[in-house]
Amino acid sequence: MRAEHMKMITLEKVSFLFKNSNLEIIDSISFQTNKGEFISVVGPSGCGKSTLLRIIAGLITPTSGRVLFGNKEITEPNRKIAFVFQDFALLPWLTNQDNVKIGLSRSEMSDEAKDKKASELLDRFGLSGFEEYYPNALSGGMKQRVGIARSIASDPQVLLMDEPFSSLDELTANSLRSDIIYMLENKNISVNAVIMVTHNVEEAVELSDKIVVLSDKPSRVKEIIKVNGTRPRDKRSKQFADYVDRIYSVLAQD
Ligand SMILES: Nc1ncnc2c1ncn2[C@@H]1O[C@H](COP(=O)(O)OP(=O)(O)O)[C@@H](O)[C@H]1O
Ligand SMILES: [Mg+2]
Repeated sequence: MRAEHMKMITLEKVSFLFKNSNLEIIDSISFQTNKGEFISVVGPSGCGKSTLLRIIAGLITPTSGRVLFGNKEITEPNRKIAFVFQDFALLPWLTNQDNVKIGLSRSEMSDEAKDKKASELLDRFGLSGFEEYYPNALSGGMKQRVGIARSIASDPQVLLMDEPFSSLDELTANSLRSDIIYMLENKNISVNAVIMVTHNVEEAVELSDKIVVLSDKPSRVKEIIKVNGTRPRDKRSKQFADYVDRIYSVLAQD
């Protein structure tokens, strides 16, 4: 079997219902992420995208169906599956260095080794010299770089990202998108699959190998669109515009 076809994350008929409200949010969602793939999930606001990502992360349990990591069912958070948050989720009372070290809290490394790794990660994201600053001294883009450095500190294989660039200006978002693609394509970096939730259709077409289009809640898979072509993609090409149009039209269908 070719490495590219090794399955990373598989959703099998995942459904979810909030018990308190008896509200069905997710209705039998299935899709698969293979090694090397970038998958985006798009759908209307409130359709259950963040809930779905939390299920994949093992933070909440589906009401029915299951999620597999390789061949193993996910029943709790796993160090090899990391989360990047829209609002960065940094702890303001810790320095940037210590925020990155949180990503290593379950590691058996010595504190010295953790410090070394955290510094290396900050350096890789252009934040050398900011180790002892607090997050509030940083711009949004720099904060998200700290957030990403923390997420990849434990050498995860899968990166789950919930609207990671939506609170950033476009130039900063673009540079971070390139960083994520670099991580995915660089064989020396552990990350080898990304699942991103976004409401930005252009961003999904720019980055993804597959786009999972969800319906309004209870969310179902409307269509899974495969995007051809290597990255970086030419956003001004006809092909790019055609993908964007197609996704908008699937979103608009009843
Ligand atoms: N604890 C909860 N109890 C009941 N309903 C909830 C709870 N949390 C979220 N919801 C509802 O679930 C739906 C999906 O939420 P979410 O996964 O955040 O959607 P999305 O990320 O697509 O905007 C929303 O309509 C929200 O109101
Ligand atoms: Mg959300």
